Amino acid sequence: MLHTSIEIHDLTVSYQNKPVLWGIDCHIPIQQLTALIGPNGAGKSTLLKSMMGLIPIASGFVHFNGKTIDSMRKHISYMPQRESVDWDFPISVKEVVMMGRYSKLGLFKKPREADHLIVQECLRKVEMEKFADRQISRLSGGQQQRVFMARAIAQDTDFYLMDEPFSGVDAATEITLLDVLKQMRDNGKTIIVVHHDVQAVAEHFDNALLLNLRKTAMGSVKEVLTEHNLQQTYGGKLQILSDVGHLLSIEQKKTRLR
Ligand SMILES: Nc1ncnc2c1ncn2[C@@H]1O[C@H](COP(=O)(O)OP(=O)(O)OP(=O)(O)O)[C@@H](O)[C@H]1O
Ligand SMILES: [Mg+2]
Repeated sequence: MLHTSIEIHDLTVSYQNKPVLWGIDCHIPIQQLTALIGPNGAGKSTLLKSMMGLIPIASGFVHFNGKTIDSMRKHISYMPQRESVDWDFPISVKEVVMMGRYSKLGLFKKPREADHLIVQECLRKVEMEKFADRQISRLSGGQQQRVFMARAIAQDTDFYLMDEPFSGVDAATEITLLDVLKQMRDNGKTIIVVHHDVQAVAEHFDNALLLNLRKTAMGSVKEVLTEHNLQQTYGGKLQILSDVGHLLSIEQKKTRLR
């Protein structure tokens, strides 16, 4: 058994007795950038929530470096999908990011100068430092996502589980944020990101876990982002995916030529 990985073993999760994740088995390598992809309703958010212990598991287990979530919680940051966040909550941008520091501060402790500097630095990384005092309700959707990403980064944990952090983020900002994630990976962080852009995953991620109720594939993006696996995951639904398959085969040819 690997102790330096995230091990998902025989994981089944149901809502009202109806399984939405079925017998998921895989090892997600640490200190790498792994994308979680699959169609709407595939169970991606459910997988992240069950990994965080936010919803009950029907069978199986998830271990982070051999340990259960209960003993690892303070080492894991979770960024929920934007639909589940109350964006009208009256709180400023820098207060949201400071929330990321609370688990390190302990209850009733005041943030120190160092925490304020970390908040500032995280806002700079996502290019939102100018908005530090703005209420979050008064930001655009993409700006809100950037603030939530800054909050996750401010937690400075070993593991990051991020549910569609790029939803509503413009293409240029996405590249900036991907660079931030890659830097974090190079500094030893393990990052799992739900992402709908298969092409971006092929270009920027190390691994992909393809999901649709069951695991359809898991491995390095080069190995698993094949037309066959994408068809298995998305079914015949999306014409666009055969275009992605085509683009990927061009990418692979280019890589061979390099
Ligand atoms: N609280 C809930 N109660 C009952 N069923 C749910 C609940 N949350 C999700 N589901 C169902 O579970 C399945 C998986 O949902 P999930 O949110 O994990 O999908 P997803 O892959 O994250 O989709 P999306 O790309 O739309 O975010 C869906 O069929 C969904 O309708
Ligand atoms: Mg989801």
